[in-house]
Amino acid sequence: MTPEKPAPALAKGTGFVTSTLAAPVTAAEAALRPLSFSDFAGQAKTVERLEVMVGAARKRGDALNHILLSGPPGLGKTTLAFILGHELGRNVRVTSGPVVEKAGDLAGLLTNLEEGDLLFIDEIHRIPKTVEEYLYSAMEDFRIDIMIDQGPNARSVRLTLPRFTLVGATTRSGLLTAPLRSRFTLQTRLDYYDKDTLLTIVRRTCGLLKVEIDAGGATEIAKRARGTPRVANNLINFIRDFAQQRAKGAITREVAAAALELLEIDSAGLDEMDKRMLRTMAENYRGGPVGMSTIAVAVGEEADTLEEVHEPFLIQEGYLQRTPQGRVLTERGYAAVGLKASGEAQATLL
Ligand SMILES: Nc1ncnc2c1ncn2[C@@H]1O[C@H](COP(=O)(O)OP(=O)(O)OP(=O)(O)O)[C@@H](O)[C@H]1O
Ligand SMILES: [Mg+2]
Repeated sequence: MTPEKPAPALAKGTGFVTSTLAAPVTAAEAALRPLSFSDFAGQAKTVERLEVMVGAARKRGDALNHILLSGPPGLGKTTLAFILGHELGRNVRVTSGPVVEKAGDLAGLLTNLEEGDLLFIDEIHRIPKTVEEYLYSAMEDFRIDIMIDQGPNARSVRLTLPRFTLVGATTRSGLLTAPLRSRFTLQTRLDYYDKDTLLTIVRRTCGLLKVEIDAGGATEIAKRARGTPRVANNLINFIRDFAQQRAKGAITREVAAAALELLEIDSAGLDEMDKRMLRTMAENYRGGPVGMSTIAVAVGEEADTLEEVHEPFLIQEGYLQRTPQGRVLTERGYAAVGLKASGEAQATLL
């Protein structure tokens, strides 16, 4: 695939797209994707585990064991799946949970694999339950029994599969069933990146994009990128435009700060939707406990998006807590929107 060509979209029912370079994301994002472990910053534990498995599989000349990568969006799950393929010199076939609608779709995907190929299933928690059961024998015994025909002619046909590696990715590992989860040799979770690692990523991206940035500018972006490489890369792209239009082209601390203000991203990296959630909880629900679906209606966003994208960061940073009764705002959460736990405005912040 050439970099100019937009990455192929996963149309419903089309099975998979094949690429050794890019998953179905924008071409711009694919161009920034590290291709080897040495280029991938952070996630030390996960990387070490994967390197052990890759090294062993190579030595034995065997297929890699099945791997489940979980964690919030934009932390590098898809990137790692492609790095695995690259390091092993194998094809990576890509599909996603909701696309595999029927057992026949899965059988089609699996029988088209070559020995040692990686099958990357994104959003694996969204694979239909009826299809999931076929994955069990495919993963364990490299065979699949499917029913063909109906009524009196119905019969089961056994298909033998090449030894392949399933790499599953999910933002919601809690939604995976126990039988599926247990069939992955390695289940590893990606965490938010610390500021220093993000700094490395910011510098790398600016180098690739040939954007001039000073230490102050890089720190400002790393600090406000919500611990997420994809966010950092998006911010760099916007700030680069801003620097061209409103300054002399280079990203300095001042330029970064002005651009981030235009994006309404605060000094801790919280965006408009994060703040809307916190403010709604403070002002309409006295800080909770309140259910996510209620918050979602109040802020006008899908509950799934809030749960996958916004909530994990807000919890990790201590702005809100998850309790059996619902979400509860912490003091830090109140302070982030300029309020005190009593609901009064914080004089110093307003
Ligand atoms: N450790 C890293 N070092 C450098 N860049 C990274 C790293 N992790 C992620 N990136 C960059 O962030 C972008 C997003 O990563 P990726 O698409 O792999 O995230 P993801 O976990 O698959 O997200 P989603 O859950 O939304 O699919 C990539 O294009 C890549 O450029
Ligand atoms: Mg991905």
